Amino acid sequence: MSIKVTVSPTKEQAVKAVAAEIAALIRARAAEGKEAILGLATGSTPVVLYKELIRLHKEEGLSFKNVTTFNLDEYYGLPGTHDQSYRYFMNTELFDHVDIDKNKTHVPNGMVPQEQVAEACAKYDADIKAAGGVDIQILGIGRTGHIGFNEPPCGPETRTHQVKLDELTIKDNARLFFHGKIEEVPTSAVTMGVGTILDAKKVILLAWGENKADIIKRSVKDAPSEMCPASWLQQHPDTEFVLDTAAASKL
Ligand code: PGA
Repeated sequence: MSIKVTVSPTKEQAVKAVAAEIAALIRARAAEGKEAILGLATGSTPVVLYKELIRLHKEEGLSFKNVTTFNLDEYYGLPGTHDQSYRYFMNTELFDHVDIDKNKTHVPNGMVPQEQVAEACAKYDADIKAAGGVDIQILGIGRTGHIGFNEPPCGPETRTHQVKLDELTIKDNARLFFHGKIEEVPTSAVTMGVGTILDAKKVILLAWGENKADIIKRSVKDAPSEMCPASWLQQHPDTEFVLDTAAASKL
């Protein structure tokens, strides 16, 4: 299956259609008295999408009261109150600015004792299933080809699990966050697996800038491989890559 690719001149323009699709899903489900289930991502990439969703809430009356969310991943060892945790990120970048019920927002718990991690991961997958499955999963992509924190090598069957972070990812994340200090970046995380992500009804991967152009090309054009986890999205029936011109420049 080939991945649908949509290219826009800027990321601000690119996310308009994505936010509109999410808004349409939320409103359609609300009209039926049902929940919309969103899979959400952290990192610098989706911030512009969350800004647009907040604008739709504040200026166009989009309500998140019937929205349930499941985030992709969380650093292991960081509490949700830590300013580099993904729970904290989601609260400050999106949840605090809309009328979502925080009890319906799920982020893997990075503080589970080590011996209970496997059980907590299985429960995360079970909770997604019990909610009816993810309707739209938003993804970023790392320069290693990771989606969520699924670093290469990673097969398409993996479920929510604990992973050791790749050195390139630790470096990238220290540069962008953690006050630039590599030693402050946790060395492992809990992440939805590639298989968990492939279960979503629709997947939308966002990427901006020319430093993502190589990995976007590998993900879209090369045969699916464990060495580029995002390439497994080629096997998903409804995946769209939403790119700016720079990220699409090598396609
Ligand atoms: P970024 O990270 O959005 O900060 O580029 C993406 C990712 O690592 O998945």
